[in-house]
Amino acid sequence: MAQNIYDDPDFFAGYSRLPRQVHGLDGAPEWPAIRALLPPLAGKRVADLGCGFGWAARWMSSAGAARVLGLDLSRNMIARAEADTADPAIAYQIADLDTLTLDDGAFDLVYSALTFHYIADFGRLARMIHAALAPGGDLVFTIEHPIFMAAAKPDWITTTGGKTWPVDHYADEGERRTDWFTNGVVKYHRTLGTTINTLIDAGFALRRVVEFAPTPDEVARQPALAEERERPMMLLLAAQKAAAL
Ligand SMILES: C[S@@+](CC[C@H](N)C(=O)[O-])C[C@H]1O[C@@H](n2cnc3c(N)ncnc32)[C@H](O)[C@@H]1O
Repeated sequence: MAQNIYDDPDFFAGYSRLPRQVHGLDGAPEWPAIRALLPPLAGKRVADLGCGFGWAARWMSSAGAARVLGLDLSRNMIARAEADTADPAIAYQIADLDTLTLDDGAFDLVYSALTFHYIADFGRLARMIHAALAPGGDLVFTIEHPIFMAAAKPDWITTTGGKTWPVDHYADEGERRTDWFTNGVVKYHRTLGTTINTLIDAGFALRRVVEFAPTPDEVARQPALAEERERPMMLLLAAQKAAAL
């Protein structure tokens, strides 16, 4: 059963104070890079998996999507998304992506931000999303970069010659527990190769792979972003289901 850490009061309080949750999409440095991966939204049927506070769902509706379905495991997240949304084109539901099944061919775009690394069986999810997309449909998602994720077990971090190497045990895939706002947050590490090959095995063609890093200009404006040039923290992927013949 999936861990529902976002309904933990301490975790939720800390998470709610992150700049990207206070300021929305403009508080996420990678948002312009994500936007560049999105297909035209006009008339599209969109599913946002792990929709959180609904920031992306609202943006997609305002960009012309015909309807957006936001799904999330957390009651806190869905309650906040519903409270902040007055748009009949958007619906939110509580759902667990570990077991979710969407109707075949029901969506033109499946989007997800920073959620799939919480999912134990990415292969099942990728196959389900592929079936849920109409021919020619798009999958655009972000996850914690596997290099960043591989640092999630502090006792594995080693230091050699004064330099910390945070990617120990990169090849050991599976559950990682980390402390973020609270102890024992469960995530799942998969290598870059596994992530990409899982999409290919599910039937997707890759459109773009982005190892997000802020530009030096962005770092000059926001020095806190400097660590994101040390190692990639986020992986952005765009994939597509083949169009009908
Ligand atoms: C880092 S937040 C990202 C939220 C939103 N996509 C954003 O970018 O602001 C991760 C979200 O994934 C959701 N989540 C984690 N595991 C899930 C699961 N098994 N099924 C559905 N949602 C899940 C959490 O509740 C949380 O809202």
